[in-house]
Amino acid sequence: MTYVVTENCIKCKYMDCVEVCPVDCFYEGENMLVIHPDECIDCGVCEPECPAEAIKPDTEPGLEQWLKLNADLSPNWPNITVKREAPADAKEWDGKPNKFKDHFSDKPGQGD
Ligand code: SF4
Ligand code: F3S
Repeated sequence: MTYVVTENCIKCKYMDCVEVCPVDCFYEGENMLVIHPDECIDCGVCEPECPAEAIKPDTEPGLEQWLKLNADLSPNWPNITVKREAPADAKEWDGKPNKFKDHFSDKPGQGD
């Protein structure tokens, strides 16, 4: 199993998660992060750190789309281990519907 980053990370991108991961397996896109499923050791410490509750264990039902997205994009995006400032409007995006449909970007982020 692995943990996965899900829809509510989009445009919230708090980055609190990257500071606690013992194996540095977060990768940065333009407006969200993903976890590399082959590197994640399932420790679970990142899950409660996310203010947007966007990190879930893949044992939860209905996360197939997100597992695939984390697996597909983590090899293409740069590694991130150091938190930067979250977007100024992160709070406004927390819980907004259709973030994937309307706002997802597969462009890489800047990384560390
Ligand atoms: Fe990193 Fe642990 Fe979260 Fe996996 S579950 S991404 S190893 S902090
Ligand atoms: Fe995203 Fe939550 Fe990390 S919003 S960047 S998964 S702390």
